[in-house]
Amino acid sequence: MKPRQLDLPQLITILIDEHAISMAKLSRIHNHLLSSDLHRASEILDELKKNISQHIVDEEATILRKALDMFGKEGSKDLIEVFKEHRRIFDLFDRLSRTLEECYQDADLFKEIRRVLSDHYRKEEDELFPKVLRRYIDKRTR
Ligand SMILES: [Fe+2]
Ligand SMILES: [Fe+2]
Repeated sequence: MKPRQLDLPQLITILIDEHAISMAKLSRIHNHLLSSDLHRASEILDELKKNISQHIVDEEATILRKALDMFGKEGSKDLIEVFKEHRRIFDLFDRLSRTLEECYQDADLFKEIRRVLSDHYRKEEDELFPKVLRRYIDKRTR
């Protein structure tokens, strides 16, 4: 999977939209399970996993590379720490795929994914993306 070729402000806008979209899809998956539509639930889950893979490729290729260019390795530590959570996010979605059928009654995995994602998204939206964007715009207008 290749990173999307977009300029940084445009990419960040899309990434933030995708955070909301992924939370909505997660709810739809859960609702389909609750109404016993395993087929539709697994279709949306496959779609969501693809979306998240592309999303993470863009963050780790484009956002991280830009941050390293602008802040160096020391200055990008906060970003590197948060991006380490991507592994955990992939693992959680793999677990959801493997156990989707059993998740009819069990909302715990959904709760955990929701918690991990919203915490991760909050750090990106409130701290990391604004920091990267600010420096990027600063450099462009100087
Ligand atoms: Fe991320
Ligand atoms: Fe993200």
